[in-house]
Amino acid sequence: MPASSVTSSPSAAPPSAGRPTAAELLDFVLRTAADQALVDSLPLDPEGRTWVRLDGPGGSEAWLIGWPPGTGTGWHDHAESVGAFATARGSLTEHSLAVRLPAGGWKTLELAEDLDRSRRLGAGDGRAFGRDHLHEVLNPSPDAHAISVHAYYPPLPLIRRFSRTGPVLRLEQVERPEDWQ
Ligand SMILES: [Fe+2]
Repeated sequence: MPASSVTSSPSAAPPSAGRPTAAELLDFVLRTAADQALVDSLPLDPEGRTWVRLDGPGGSEAWLIGWPPGTGTGWHDHAESVGAFATARGSLTEHSLAVRLPAGGWKTLELAEDLDRSRRLGAGDGRAFGRDHLHEVLNPSPDAHAISVHAYYPPLPLIRRFSRTGPVLRLEQVERPEDWQ
């Protein structure tokens, strides 16, 4: 999760009675994306993504992220975490695969045809995803920043990064929290 600045907020979330579901994470990111004061508080940098850590529900990991025009994540997954994200400002595009990939034990994988999906999330739009969800998220705008809210549970133990050459996915790197904090 490379970005140009990281700011922590004090932990104030009350303990949860149980594991937050993807639907609860989606509700959280949609509500948070509608919080104008919070969204306005995010520092923006034309040179790179910026982020602020948030207190997600039930001990989840949450982030407010700013995306300069033309920036994106590259293909990655979130291991066994479920998650959700919502656009607060601007527009994001998500490319994903309409199949749940094997969790591990492979370095390259040839995808069948017709698995690619693409969706645009304008301000106020959000989506939830299950474990082993592989995607890339980008701000395709030539001139406008985008801001979004993301939540994951359990907190991300790792992110696996992939390259994509046509139908072939290749595992390139495994990042752990110490790599992006
Ligand atoms: Fe992601």
